[in-house]
Amino acid sequence: MAIRSNRSDAIFHYRMKDKFLIRGLGGKKGLTGTIKVSGAKNAALKVMAASILFKDDITLENVPEIEDVKRMSDLLTHLGCSVKHIRPHTYNIGCRKKINTDLSNEISKRMRSSIVLLGPLLGRFGTVSFPHPGGCVIGERPIDFFIEGFKKMGAVVHITGGARKKTYSLSISGKKLRGATIFLRTPSVTATETFMMAGVLAHGVTTIQNAALEPEIKDLADFLIRSGAHIKGAGTSTVIISGNGTLTARGPYITMPDRIEAGSFIILGALCAKHLEIKNCNPEHLSALLHILESAGVTLTIRKTSIIISNGHHGAKKFKIINVKTHEYPGFPTDLQAPITVFLTQTKGEAIVFETIFEGRLGYTESLEAMGANITPMDAHRVLVKGPAILRGRKLESPDLRAGLAFIIAAIIARGDSTIHNVYNIDRGYEHIEDRLRAIGVSITRVGN
Ligand code: EPZ
Repeated sequence: MAIRSNRSDAIFHYRMKDKFLIRGLGGKKGLTGTIKVSGAKNAALKVMAASILFKDDITLENVPEIEDVKRMSDLLTHLGCSVKHIRPHTYNIGCRKKINTDLSNEISKRMRSSIVLLGPLLGRFGTVSFPHPGGCVIGERPIDFFIEGFKKMGAVVHITGGARKKTYSLSISGKKLRGATIFLRTPSVTATETFMMAGVLAHGVTTIQNAALEPEIKDLADFLIRSGAHIKGAGTSTVIISGNGTLTARGPYITMPDRIEAGSFIILGALCAKHLEIKNCNPEHLSALLHILESAGVTLTIRKTSIIISNGHHGAKKFKIINVKTHEYPGFPTDLQAPITVFLTQTKGEAIVFETIFEGRLGYTESLEAMGANITPMDAHRVLVKGPAILRGRKLESPDLRAGLAFIIAAIIARGDSTIHNVYNIDRGYEHIEDRLRAIGVSITRVGN
């Protein structure tokens, strides 16, 4: 166990030291070509966790080759599951026998999505222990919904350790979790997914009220239903699960396109592409962003699985500035808040960006200010952006994966050279981002330590 933790640490330290060197376009419309969207991180990670609900192996295709997927593989391997990376983008995962149910400290502390393992582990083996999960530093990120919900489902909870070093041990006294009605005070994505998976192996009916509506939840439910689960209402605010025992895979899970990656590429295209085609995406999942961009005056051609942006010779200055307020799906995604703020720095006028989901997700705007953006913090949830501003290349530190990609976009439109440190944070969610951006005309190089 210790060996694996040390190995993971070594990887983290090594990758943390990579940086990107980016030569900015200085306001030119320099990008052209086609960019393909990868499979969705936040869908693949949940299906990997769902492998514990199955009595046989499951195969996942179109899985993004990103650090978070590697960490989830490490986490499952550490538990005793068999994880085979059979070819690029394809994994085979099996948890046939009784496995260890203590989540690795090192990995869980770094990855919020480790929390979704609670449902499958408690449901199948009746016990789980884990540290307070980590992940991107974007706010407090409590786990009270999980603790309260599992108590209702019959789990006994023991918490040890002080404020920042808490370890939680959950176990059930009976043979199975029992179905319960769980009301989420806020529609939480991972809580909805976790209780949906727990409900599959629970005794009786589990009802999740005020559930989150994100498309990754319905995608997970569809795969589970295809494998024998009884789930109704996924993708609506009430999800009802009738426990029906372990599942049997009937064909592979094909990871849906990453709507956040697609949205970030669309914003990049709106800012500095002559002609850019974003392929392998699902425009239906991007309505909030597309509505804002179209209202701002961006010309988009929307096809079934691709979006084309043609800017001609006009600059982003011609775009109308628009207020943005993040909201649970189908509202504007918090994960696109940083990229859209970069967009707003280039439009004419004043707009408020209102981050309603997380209280610590605007810290990155200080770095945009250092690049020349005119951004004034209003409170923990709101900033005022005045545009257009000329951005200049800077040394930047990627604070989390979504703001990291926003910094890449800012560096591409800026005048001069930028260096982006903490590239590990970007690699957590975006596959070979530098190669894909270089192919459409971005001057970007990865430099190791
Ligand atoms: C998921 O996080 C995503 N992560 C996040 O993406 C995304 O930003 C977020 O949903 C919102 O869309 C994964 O899917 C792995 P929440 P999650 O629970 O589920 C509060 C990325 O970059 N809350 O939906 O952790 C919480 O504080 C990541 O890929 C509680 O109060 O977010 C927040 O205000 C970053 N108690 C709100 O709910 C709880 O027990 C919604 O967060 C749980 C959540």
